[in-house]
Amino acid sequence: MYTRKITKALLLILLGLFFIQCNDDDETLVDLVPPPIQLDLNPTLVAQGKETFRYDTFGDEAFWSGALELDKAVLGQDNGGFGPGLSPNTALAIGLKVDAEALPQDLVDAISAGQVDLDDPLTTVALLSLDAVVGVKGNFDQSGNLMSMGITCALCHSTVDDSFSSGIGSRVDGWANKDLNVGAIFGFVNNAPLADILSVDVTTFNSVVNNWGAGKFAPVLLLDGKVTKPSGELATVNIPPAYGLQGVEKETYTGWGNVSYWNRFIGVLDMGGQGNFSDPRLNDPQKFPLAVERGVFNVSVSEDLIDSKLEGLLQYQQSLLAPQPEEGSFDEVAARRGKSLFENKAQCASCHPAPIFADNVLHTPSEIGIDDFEANRSPTGMYRTPPLRGIFVKEADGNGFFHDGRFANLDAVVSHYNTHFSLELTNEEKADLIEYLKAL
Ligand code: HEC
Ligand code: HEC
Repeated sequence: MYTRKITKALLLILLGLFFIQCNDDDETLVDLVPPPIQLDLNPTLVAQGKETFRYDTFGDEAFWSGALELDKAVLGQDNGGFGPGLSPNTALAIGLKVDAEALPQDLVDAISAGQVDLDDPLTTVALLSLDAVVGVKGNFDQSGNLMSMGITCALCHSTVDDSFSSGIGSRVDGWANKDLNVGAIFGFVNNAPLADILSVDVTTFNSVVNNWGAGKFAPVLLLDGKVTKPSGELATVNIPPAYGLQGVEKETYTGWGNVSYWNRFIGVLDMGGQGNFSDPRLNDPQKFPLAVERGVFNVSVSEDLIDSKLEGLLQYQQSLLAPQPEEGSFDEVAARRGKSLFENKAQCASCHPAPIFADNVLHTPSEIGIDDFEANRSPTGMYRTPPLRGIFVKEADGNGFFHDGRFANLDAVVSHYNTHFSLELTNEEKADLIEYLKAL
């Protein structure tokens, strides 16, 4: 009897050890972070959406070339355009990315051997002819002359893996291009038409956009004309990722609408694509004086180049999962303690519940303890709880957290909540919570 008990106990211990061992080998750590919501996607639509996301300008050449003369700015005065032109080195410096897979092997070899002039704008034109500049589309005539240019979703929501060199590699769609200096692009083109909309001179316009910085944009600027926050800081938001949206019902930091609503919004109102757009909420002279003046609360075109692509675009975005943290990038034991804090003492899960790590609810600015400036630039007046999967990417990016990047790192975010909600977390607890956030 006695020996049987010992044998049984030993067996249980062994079994226990076996399971701990199994758990250690389990790379996905599903008990720590459950998998994202599985969506039933149509592969044909996903493939169509990928093409649209990467290469479709929706006819926005009329805006980028017709009005802003991006093509002439890229060519430069030596090649029939104006200004210094856009060399590959300058393009890379303002955060544009090159798709290495679009380059033929002899060109790759020539670049490696230092035989390609990366200071010559015509090299950029050659890259455009290969469809190798991520998110930028060049159109050429039969003799190979650059005729017009436009932009695609990938400009802001794709980057590359730097596998060839910094800024040159394979595309990774859905990632925010944290290096992209959209303001520098606006500073570089013929921006008089944009300055006109804001009723400022070109010098003033340039002094604004050239100071936006990398990874920032202001999608409502030409609707409300708000250049600065009340604090005097430039009014921008961080370019967000377009991945990890499985189950997220309200898009944008302030919950303007669902994915397709927002894709149409940005396609028509920011990219300058050819599509219909109507939202009576923008017909509000107090909030959106420029939208009312320009009549863009109701845009109607004869041929809509966006509408038929929205379903594919939606499915492609829904297929883009947030990246998973690499093994060893966080302390698993601490993360387990952090999970318990996240769900209990720190109250995070009340707004960021698994598996979306968001509640699909909008919150007032005072609820989360921040100012209402950006919230009030949206019809909602509120902030949306963002999904937190893949949040470790933002910690590495260095562009900060919350809509405008106001908190430099996760430590600052947790400290803010600790004060705002009087959580009384100890330093050890804060550190554990951060390890859990890095595991999401
Ligand atoms: C010039 C840069 C730029 C381009 C081009 C652009 N976006 Fe965005 N996108 C942004 C910014 C900035 C935001 C954040 C807006 C906000 O939340 O107020 C955003 C928000 C989004 C969101 C919401 C993400 C979330 O977490 O709610 C999605 C989805 C998205 N964009 C998809 C697209 C698609 C699809 C296209 C092409 C049709 C596109 N974007 C073109 C800059 C851009
Ligand atoms: C009352 C709801 C609420 C609670 C509780 C809450 N959050 Fe949030 N959280 C939000 C909202 C809303 C935002 C968006 C703020 C913004 O974009 O300016 C946000 C933003 C964040 C961000 C930044 C995400 C990004 O992409 O920049 C992180 C990280 C975060 N919360 C973590 C936490 C943690 C950790 C806790 C617990 C200590 C917590 N949240 C508690 C609502 C909440």
